[in-house]
Formats: sequence, structure tokens, C-alpha cells
Amino acid sequence: MTGQKIDGIAVANSVKDRVRIATSELRKENIEPCLATVLVGDNPASTTYVKNKQKACFEVGIATKDHKLPASFSQQEMNTLIDLLNSDKAVHGILVQLPLPDKLDEFAITSRISPIKDIDGLTPFNIGLLSSGRAILKPCTPSGIIELFDYYKIDLAGKDAVIVNRSNLVGKPLYNLMLERNATVTTCHSKTQNLKEHCKRADIVVTAIGDRSKFVLTEDMVKDGAVVIDVGTARLDGKLVGDVDYENVIKKAAYVTPVPGGVGPMTVAMLLKNTLTAASISKGFVSNR
Ligand code: GUN
Repeated sequence: MTGQKIDGIAVANSVKDRVRIATSELRKENIEPCLATVLVGDNPASTTYVKNKQKACFEVGIATKDHKLPASFSQQEMNTLIDLLNSDKAVHGILVQLPLPDKLDEFAITSRISPIKDIDGLTPFNIGLLSSGRAILKPCTPSGIIELFDYYKIDLAGKDAVIVNRSNLVGKPLYNLMLERNATVTTCHSKTQNLKEHCKRADIVVTAIGDRSKFVLTEDMVKDGAVVIDVGTARLDGKLVGDVDYENVIKKAAYVTPVPGGVGPMTVAMLLKNTLTAASISKGFVSNR
């Protein structure tokens, strides 16, 4: 029996529709939701991601302020820019596109963002709230994955979930979000022994490696009826591919996300949702209780 493709574009569109309506409501309160984007250097993938995020903002009525900076931009200059954006009342969300050039201290920069404008949920304050189950601004890719589970009514309670990634943007926050839904979560990484065995026993596998020379999730690594979420993106013969051997895995799994058209659109949709939330926070409209 063939599994079902999880349609990230359709789910993202439903999120965007809700954000568009809520944005127009906020505008009636004289709040114009606005996202400041910060891109340092000319990494082609990051350039495309930021363009896509700005375009999506435009589509739902969120304003953007574009900060495109040379790779030579210093730590001190970044600090000054973040401080300026933190104090700018017209800016509700700040997106510093990652990765940053090596000479910049990524942790110091993301930590400097005001927690109420931290639409990536990467400040220590928001990470703390996330691990306490109280976060309002949650990292976009993990919260987009939870949105996919909800849309497809995939219950996580009691399920064995394996995450193949331990990054601050994906693996660690997703661990917390899936734990909150009562899954039994295992985080796998480059030093994990018997990775295949971990994947094979999982009811839900989330993979985010993005390098097919290091990891491909094949049919023999998933159990019948598993849910497979592919966050990886890489280029193979000029085509965008994920970590999962989609054509074969879907013959065995219950649900699989494609690449493209799976998790990627959800990351963008959740950024819009977080920007709207940040704009609402600025007027005291949101509570985490
Ligand atoms: N680079 C890859 N994904 C992301 C993301 O979700 N946010 C930021 N800021 N940078 C990224």
C-alpha cells in the first residue's frame, strides 16, 4: 500500500490565509506588521531564502525592511544594527539569515535580538520558554512540522520519534515540541551508533542532514506505516532533493513529505505567523498562559 504525500504547499497556504486575515485586522488597529531581514554576504541559498521570505511577507500584507550587507560587515557593525532594529518601533520581527560568515559570532548576534522581536525563537530567553513548554515565538521549521502533524491529524502521543539532526534551528527545538506532544523522542547525530536501527524502530522519523553523501533515508530504514518528515535540502544533478528516497519510502510509509513542497513552505509560513505574533505582542495582545 502506498502512503500519502504530505502537501506542505497546501498547509502553508492555509496558514498564510489565516495570517493575511489577522494582518488586515491588526492594520485596523493601526499596526503595520513589519519584518526586518538581515542578510550578510552572498551565499546563494541564503539569498534565495531571504527573497522568498520577503515575497511571502508581501503576499500576506506584512511589510519588510531589507538589510543586505557585505561579507566584510563586522561584529561591532552587526551589534549596532541589531540595537537599532531592537529600538525601531516600526519593526516587529528581526530575521538574521543563518549561517553567518565564519568570522561573525552567530550566538552573540542572535542573542542580542530583543526576545519580543525574535521571530526565529533563537534567543536564550525564548529557548528557555520553549523548554518549559511556554514559548510564544518558536523556531519556524520545527513549529511548521508540528503544524503538518496537526493538519493531517497525526497524533504523537506515545509514538517513538527519531530526529536525525541536533541543530539549534531544527533538532533541539523539535525535540522539545514533540516531547510536549507526548512522543518518546530520540535525537540522532553524527556519532550515533546503529543509526539505521534507530530509524527502523521509529513511528516517526524526521531527518535534516542535507548532504546525500553522508545520509540517505532508504526504504529498508523505515518501518511499515511510519511517518517520514524530510527537512534536508541539497542539489543533485541540478535538482533540489531531500534526505529521503521518496519514491521508494512512500511505498512503505503512511505519510512522507516531498522535497520540494514539504517542510520548506512551512518554514516560510511560520515566519509570517511569528511576525504577526510579534506585531501583536507589541500591542500586548498575546499571552503564553
Ligand atoms: N537558515 C536556514 N533556516 C533558517 C531559519 O529558519 N532562520 C534563519 N534565521 N536562518 C535560517
